[in-house]
Amino acid sequence: MVKNICIVTGAAGFIGSHMVDFLLKKNFFVYGIDNFSNGEKKNLKNAIKNKNFKLINKDFSKVKISEISKKASFVFHFAGIGSIVPSIEDPFKYFENNAIKTIKFIEFIRKNKLKLKKFVYAASSSCYGLYSLKTDENVKISCQHPYAYSKYVGEQSSMFWGKIYNIPIISIRIFNAYGLRFKTTGAYGSVIGVFLRQKLSNYPLTICGNGKQKRDYVHISDVVNAFYLAAMSNQKSQIYNLGYGKPNTVKKLANIISNKFQKIPNRKGEPFATHADISKIKRHLKWKPVVSFNEGMSEIMKNIGLWKTAPLWTTSSIKKYTRTWTKLIK
Ligand SMILES: NC(=O)c1ccc[n+]([C@@H]2O[C@H](COP(=O)([O-])OP(=O)(O)OC[C@H]3O[C@@H](n4cnc5c(N)ncnc54)[C@H](O)[C@@H]3O)[C@@H](O)[C@H]2O)c1
Repeated sequence: MVKNICIVTGAAGFIGSHMVDFLLKKNFFVYGIDNFSNGEKKNLKNAIKNKNFKLINKDFSKVKISEISKKASFVFHFAGIGSIVPSIEDPFKYFENNAIKTIKFIEFIRKNKLKLKKFVYAASSSCYGLYSLKTDENVKISCQHPYAYSKYVGEQSSMFWGKIYNIPIISIRIFNAYGLRFKTTGAYGSVIGVFLRQKLSNYPLTICGNGKQKRDYVHISDVVNAFYLAAMSNQKSQIYNLGYGKPNTVKKLANIISNKFQKIPNRKGEPFATHADISKIKRHLKWKPVVSFNEGMSEIMKNIGLWKTAPLWTTSSIKKYTRTWTKLIK
């Protein structure tokens, strides 16, 4: 039987590598592209043993048609760089990598006449800025930093190319993905990673403000399932929010990880809460999250040793990061 052929960009990253594993289990042939700017070989340790996987170690905007198959039917586009402070310091680098290279890549698909059944773009909920109420896809866009803007332009350009050149595109605005292999630094380093690493060093968890801030964490297995269902669906030119649909407080998270805390000042420039309205994705793709926050965190706690070599955020490094951010964003 002819296999479904697909391309996963950012294949060695957190989400991309889980997507690769998921697709290989479904018996897809997968071309995984990564330039290892933030990816890790160990994330692909199972994939590289699989005869249905081919790793292309280069910039996704420089891939040649001879390196992939013209018969590819699906693209999952996860390649991107994501750190807020560096994006404020070097905005063009972010815009180039996340927006311009995405356009180049869609142009590559168009010019080579790939007959895609779906191009699924990994967008970011950061486009909603400081909005802290339940967020549907029509909430006003309000990018607060170049990272958010670069991802948003990448999304909108993909949607535009899709409409004009009849490429079926779906964009999924991910809220806070978490699970094994996730990073402790970067835009998605997120408080979970910071706390895990602090716990491993017997360092008190640094809680900003009163710890009542909320984040809508969605487990990685639910994330890759959503991307898969988007690819398989008949939908096109659609944008979906992807979260669990029920945020959890930082205090609750901290209590799961440790009983040693210290309070540090609250940070400006971040939403007080993120809360995805997931009714559209549930309705259109028949997707729903299945891994609860308690289940997902219990998996993480059982594997906490995996983060022992990750960078440690100390009180002073967090304060420095916050100061740079606040100064730059003004
Ligand atoms: N993790 C989240 O919660 C979250 C939330 C919203 C959006 N996203 C988006 O999802 C995507 C994946 O996120 P992640 O958490 O897995 O990040 P990640 O950093 O773990 O993975 C991104 C991968 O892309 C690769 N990459 C970057 N630029 C590249 C280039 N020019 N060519 C080839 N490879 C390149 C990196 O080496 C890395 O392996 C990103 O685009 C991100 O913006 C993630």
